[in-house]
Amino acid sequence: MKKPMYHILVCNSYRVAGDAMGVCNKKGTSAFLQYIVDEASDRGLDVTVTSTACLNVCHQGPIMVIHPNNFWYGGVEAESVIDEILDALEEDSLCEKYAITD
Ligand code: FES
Repeated sequence: MKKPMYHILVCNSYRVAGDAMGVCNKKGTSAFLQYIVDEASDRGLDVTVTSTACLNVCHQGPIMVIHPNNFWYGGVEAESVIDEILDALEEDSLCEKYAITD
């Protein structure tokens, strides 16, 4: 099995039991999943994108995490934000503007 270079986690607010109902889902992260896949592909980034359960930083949501770098981003609410984050990832760098640092 070929493993991707990056694993992008996008919070979609799933709960252990029941439907997605948290902040990130309400702010529309579901709509961004395909955009992230397409943009990463266009940039030649080797990524897998996964939507997740609540990542427990709801007050900074919507949340996106990139591993193995352990880059945590908040306020991922627009395609322009994703573009800036992926621009940085092309350099294997953190986009400090949206980084969660505390
Ligand atoms: S719902 Fe996304 S971090 Fe909690």
